[in-house]
Amino acid sequence: MENTSPAFRRVLQEYRERLAGEEAYQKSLTVKTDMMKVRDTLLLPVGEDIAQLCVDLIVARNAKVIVELGSSYGYSTLYLAEAARRTGGKLFSYEIHPDKQQHARERIAAAELAPHVQWCLGDAVKLLADQPGPIEFVLLDLWKDMYIPCLDVFYPKLANNGLIVADNMLYPEFNRPEGAAYRAAVRAKPEMEAVLLPIGQGIDLACRSKRAS
Ligand SMILES: C[S@@+](CC[C@H](N)C(=O)[O-])C[C@H]1O[C@@H](n2cnc3c(N)ncnc32)[C@H](O)[C@@H]1O
Repeated sequence: MENTSPAFRRVLQEYRERLAGEEAYQKSLTVKTDMMKVRDTLLLPVGEDIAQLCVDLIVARNAKVIVELGSSYGYSTLYLAEAARRTGGKLFSYEIHPDKQQHARERIAAAELAPHVQWCLGDAVKLLADQPGPIEFVLLDLWKDMYIPCLDVFYPKLANNGLIVADNMLYPEFNRPEGAAYRAAVRAKPEMEAVLLPIGQGIDLACRSKRAS
């Protein structure tokens, strides 16, 4: 990514090296029960294309209230924190697993982006009740059965022109039924326009727009 600090690039390189060791194994997990057994040991990142797209959308919208649902070990957090730095906004990063959040915190501090992140530890469905709004950007990337419960809680706080990027709509294939259910749910909300994009692992890009009512 252009115009990033040496600290950002060092931390990104660490993630790339870890991912290079995990990627083939992750792709071999085509059965959901196998993935469930090991999922907390893996980065499971959105990938560079989607991470970069999120940064571009946040910066283009000058979004200041940015929400990440599912920080895992901090790969997407790194990009979203950089986007928050660029807009002068704040990233609210939610993760249920304490050890993953601790790892993410350390990497974000190493990338010199800690002042741009507020860490939220616990079940996002419950914690989102206290999330300040209006929310201008959401990356939805926690376990797939949590997408609709989270949407129901954050939707009322979504800003006009607020964006939702929801990952894993197409891959892994075993997540497709949950992806389809989420797309139906987001399209059923008032004032929403949405499109499925076959990039990365498949994202749904939704925008709350008063024009769509
Ligand atoms: C696919 S990973 C996120 C990957 C991350 N966005 C990235 O690109 O590096 C999903 C994460 O969501 C977390 N998670 C699952 N359910 C959650 C919940 N109800 N509240 C908060 N975090 C949750 C999991 O612990 C896991 O770390």
